[in-house]
Amino acid sequence: MQSRTVSELLSQQTTLLEVDIKGWVRTFRANRFIALNDGSTINNIQCVVDFEKFDESVLKRITTGAAVHIKGELVESQGKGQKVEIQVHNIEVLGDSDPETYPIQPKKHSFEFLRENAHLRTRTNTFSAIMRLRSALSFAVHKYFNENGFYYMHAPIITGSDAEGAGEMFKVSSLDPKNTPLTEDGKVDYSKDFFGKETNLTVSGQLEAETYAMSLGKVYTFGPTFRAENSNTSRHLAEFWMIEPEVAFMDLAGNMDLAEDFLKSVITHVLEHNQEDLEFLDQRLLNEEKSKPQAERSDMSLIEKLKFVTENNFKRVSYTEAIDILRSCKPNKKKKFKYIIDEWGTDLQSEHERFLVEKHFKCPVILFDYPANIKAFYMRLNEDGKTVRAMDILFPGIGEIVGGAQREERLDILKERMAAIDIPEEDLWWYLDLRKYGTAVHSGFGLGFERLVMFATGMTNIRDVIPFPRTPHNAEF
Ligand code: 4AD
Repeated sequence: MQSRTVSELLSQQTTLLEVDIKGWVRTFRANRFIALNDGSTINNIQCVVDFEKFDESVLKRITTGAAVHIKGELVESQGKGQKVEIQVHNIEVLGDSDPETYPIQPKKHSFEFLRENAHLRTRTNTFSAIMRLRSALSFAVHKYFNENGFYYMHAPIITGSDAEGAGEMFKVSSLDPKNTPLTEDGKVDYSKDFFGKETNLTVSGQLEAETYAMSLGKVYTFGPTFRAENSNTSRHLAEFWMIEPEVAFMDLAGNMDLAEDFLKSVITHVLEHNQEDLEFLDQRLLNEEKSKPQAERSDMSLIEKLKFVTENNFKRVSYTEAIDILRSCKPNKKKKFKYIIDEWGTDLQSEHERFLVEKHFKCPVILFDYPANIKAFYMRLNEDGKTVRAMDILFPGIGEIVGGAQREERLDILKERMAAIDIPEEDLWWYLDLRKYGTAVHSGFGLGFERLVMFATGMTNIRDVIPFPRTPHNAEF
């Protein structure tokens, strides 16, 4: 007989004489009730064991964490809390689990403890819900682009260029660190390295995606990106996944429309398809909020926050307007911000972004037209000569979730911007070629996938929304 999933059995409308199911024991109560889970749903199926029919040696092996194979009958449940349950006829313990040492006990564990046991944490309700949502969001990303005429492009992971010009890259080398070849002036001789040049793990697939947009029209990447920035915050990872659409003949206004439509679409997808997991996480957040002082509690539940994003327009505000608001706001005047805003041109910190989104506008915000000198070289210079056609999307509870721009398509200006920050033209000859042969207005953005998963799950630490987080001093598993 073919095994069924817990999800399939729980949604059965009729009773079944014979069912066959495999999963892991969450709890075994009163030597009689097994709560069984197989990952197919947040819910467990209750399996009722008539202990008189089973040998004591078998019953002893039914412990939390054990893998079991159950055969029995699906019947209407006698008890409260579930519609159906399995009357167990036969149980085989496939894999024992020592109850003394099994880390995932049926009790509340701290997130820190679960991070240390990341290989087992998806056996909890919270983490199984998060990872099912992560998978659904990932599917929704591909679905959206597929339905909107985009091609999926695989940008290289090993690259010779620093797309963001921030220099925060992990080196890729096969040179022997104990015997590094040096040039005459004492520098590492990368011509002797595997690729014959200095290479790194990519920080963004954008520059390569631009080449494809300028031939295929509408493309997107969705892959791992790496940043060696030493920021040990709850919003940064050294390895994260980024989604980067890039579109030819699209200006910044079109870019904002695309980003807003895309974000609304993927969030709507999980609202429609992942209701049970969202309801569970909604309740979890509600319980967590209760332990906070009244003033710090959110006035919206998780599902309300998601619906709020899908049902309302994002507020579009220029950097200059944002600076005016921030300069004259209470926390700035009362010096409550760590970084006081006094001049046009300063970069915004996450405290400022969150003030704009959570306190001032109380909705997602798209900030655009930033000062050129705080943004990357590839962004299109505005007529004022001091701002660029950049946009960042800020979400409540998260801060920046998307960064993007209309790209500089004019060869002479792009060369000037590169020269100003010492990027040699020969390093990006192919990127400059796009501006020589059939150049055109084009735009794109990058969405940090984990920041989206944080928003959709209500989790506040980015380490809890990626299977095995990579952060400074941490690459376990
Ligand atoms: O703003 P960023 O640096 O933009 C780019 O990389 C552009 N090349 C994107 C583009 O235009 N195609 O990064 C984009 C997004 C951020 O808004 C943030 O959500 C996420 O990537 N991000 C990180 N997420 C987790 N950990 C980190 N260290 C991140 N750095 C950026």
